[in-house]
Parts: sequence; C-alpha cells; structure tokens
Amino acid sequence: MAGPLRVGVVGVGQRGLQHVSALTKLQADEIVNLAALVDPYADNLDATKINRFVPDYKDAGVEKYSSVRELVDSGTVDAIWFVMPPNQHKGEIEYAARHGIHVFAEKPQSLFLDEVLRQNEAIKESDILSMCGFQMRHDRGYTDIRNYLKDKWVASMTMIAEGAVEGHGVKHTHTEEQGGPANRVWTANRAWSGTSMVEAGIHQTDIMRYWSDDDVKWVRANYVERPKELHATEGDNPIYYEVTYGFAKGGLGNIIFTKPARSYYNGRYDCIIWEHGTIKLENDFVDYHFEGEWPPKTNPTLEQVRKVISAGPHTTAMGAESTTDLAKSFAEAVTLSKPELLRNTFESSINSLAAVLAANVSNDLGGEKIVIDEFINSDKYVKYRKRPAGV
Ligand SMILES: NC(=O)c1ccc[n+]([C@@H]2O[C@H](COP(=O)([O-])OP(=O)(O)OC[C@H]3O[C@@H](n4cnc5c(N)ncnc54)[C@H](O)[C@@H]3O)[C@@H](O)[C@H]2O)c1
Repeated sequence: MAGPLRVGVVGVGQRGLQHVSALTKLQADEIVNLAALVDPYADNLDATKINRFVPDYKDAGVEKYSSVRELVDSGTVDAIWFVMPPNQHKGEIEYAARHGIHVFAEKPQSLFLDEVLRQNEAIKESDILSMCGFQMRHDRGYTDIRNYLKDKWVASMTMIAEGAVEGHGVKHTHTEEQGGPANRVWTANRAWSGTSMVEAGIHQTDIMRYWSDDDVKWVRANYVERPKELHATEGDNPIYYEVTYGFAKGGLGNIIFTKPARSYYNGRYDCIIWEHGTIKLENDFVDYHFEGEWPPKTNPTLEQVRKVISAGPHTTAMGAESTTDLAKSFAEAVTLSKPELLRNTFESSINSLAAVLAANVSNDLGGEKIVIDEFINSDKYVKYRKRPAGV
C-alpha cells in the first residue's frame, strides 16, 4: 500500500494526545497523514486545546467526527488508533475491522473478555493488521533484556510498583456526565479502570511476556481493598495488589502494586532470575553472573560478576520515544506489508489482558488459581467474561 498511512485517532484524551504528538512527528517524516480525530466531546477536538498539549499539531485538513461509524463511513482513513476508555467500547473496533481498516488498540482493549474475543474475531476475519499499545516493547533497554534472555531459561521475574492515588491523572472523558467519577480521575474507579492491575499492571504483565518470550498460563491474586469510607475521596480501587503468574515455560512472575493516598511516593524494584544469574535494573541494566569454571577456587567480588547488558541511563520505557517507535512500526508494517515489524498483535496481546482480568477473578474467589486457557474457554468462568447487565 502506498504511504503515507491515513490515520484517525479515536479518543483525544490523555493518551490520545500523546498519540497525536507521535503521529505529528511521523507526519513530518511523511510516514503518516493524521487525517481525522474522533471524540464525542467537542472540547476535546478543539485545536486550541490540542495545541496546548501538542504545539506542533496542525489542524488544517484534519476531519473531526463524534463517532467511529461516521469516521469509518467517510472513507478518509486506512488505520484507526483506538484510545478511548476501556469500558466505553460498543463494537467500534469490530465495525472498523469489518470495513478493512487497520486497528491499533490501546490497552486494555476492553474490560470484558467476551468483547475482546469478538473484537479479535472481526480482526481475524478481515485482511488487516492490528497492534496493541504496549510501548515498553519498543524501549531499547527492555529489548536488550529480551535479546539477552533469548538463550536462557527465566525462573522468575519480580516487579514492584510503588505508586499513590495522587499519581492518577485527571482525564479528558466527561465521566461525570455518564454516572462515573465527578473528578474525571477514572483510573481510581473500579467500574471504569477494571482495577489498577488491569489498567496499569497490564504493562508489567506484558513486559514480562516480552522479556521471557513466554505466555501466562495461570494466575493467583490477592488484593487489599481500600476502606469503604475512603471511596468517595480516594476512589474504590484496592490499596494493595499481589499477583503471581505461572508462565508456560515453568517460571514465575510476581507483581506487587501499592496505591495508598497522601504518600506521593513513587518507587520500583525489578529483578529477573535466570538459571545462572540475577538481572537488576540499575542505572545500567546488569546481570550478576559468574562466567568462568564453577565453582571458582575463591569467590569473585560482586564487581567481577557484574556485567552490563544495557548501558543506561534508562528513563524512557513508558515515554514519548517508545510511543513514537510503536506508531512508526505499525504504520510501516501496514504500508510496507511487513507484519514482521510488529512486536505484538491484537491476538497475541489477549494473553496479557486475560491474565490481568483473571487476577481480578482470582482475588474475587479468595486467591483461587485461574488457568488462563480455562478462563478464556471454560463454562465455569462465563459470568466473569461478560459485561455485567446495566453496565
Ligand atoms: N499505553 C499507555 O501508556 C497508556 C497511558 C494512558 C492511557 N492508556 C489507555 O488509553 C485509553 C484512554 O485513556 P486516557 O488516559 O486517554 O483517557 P481520557 O479519558 O483522558 O481520554 C479518553 C478520550 O476518549 C474519548 N471518548 C470517550 N468515549 C468515547 C467513545 N465512545 N468514542 C470515542 N471517544 C471516546 C474521551 O472524550 C476522551 O477524550 C485507555 O484504554 C487507557 O488505558 C494507555
């Protein structure tokens, strides 16, 4: 297909604006043409507002629509970036896919697995490419880790993300008009975010799969609920999450998320254990591993076993650089007909989403082990895959 790729962005909110910024850069390189924006709220389509977040955005020639159907029917785009809240999907991805439009879907693709499976069916039945918004797969350092681990067996990956309620941004969806949070901080709200494990922990889940080139086979989870009297001011998502994954190749993954309010603290700990080493994400990414004949006559010093596998500083895994690279690889995969440029597809990403949704179910069932394949296919979990009535 001849480039530049004609792109529409659906949902011009916090993340949508980051995509508009990435696509504006790619437009300057003639890789894409940002042809249309969709948002049900007119203020989010206002050029003055968009320019406050993306100074280089050029409004001239960009079509504006209030619904995906109008955009698809207009025939103005070849690909759509879906960047709307995950509980707001109502068949838009399926509609676009069935009209031959390539689909870039932000994570989580929906909060309800049945809908995700329907979206996937529509994508598979159409001759289109698809991708999900896991930009950390495009980080240089994280990709160095994946390449380093290619010939190794990963025994465990542990990621602790210490966050705080204050870390949630004020969003652009008018949630107050839809029975959602009055303050528009929908990531603190369970019905909108599906819990922080689903909304944010999906990134850690997916990067563990990327590092180890593996899939989540089962999950066990326990959360600590936020006391009810704090819900009105701090949101109703849990205050603490502990999730264990069993991976198909036999390793374990552990994710701990903390979300108190008033701490303003933000910290992290990451560690990967392979059969003969301990990888730590320091300023450089480092493997502690003894190379010589083992055991040595005298124990080596830590410095002697310390090997840099990716030189730092590493600050950008979630940032603009990875997001631009993600968009570039999707646009080029489509225009050059090179699906091998994609580091995930909609279908391959279902494992990450199913894993975090199953973590919620495990917690609801008192920490029960949920096998992902059963969660997707077994009648036992029918009610957990459905969008609840009235939601
Ligand atoms: N990959 C990442 O790092 C990352 C970061 C933040 C958010 N996200 C994801 O991006 C998505 C959007 O999150 P956000 O932070 O931008 O939220 P947001 O509320 O700031 O923005 C969402 C936008 O979608 C619009 N919208 C709402 N309903 C719509 C509909 N039916 N059709 C079209 N547009 C609609 C809203 O008006 C708003 O402008 C979520 O799935 C979120 O998880 C991903």
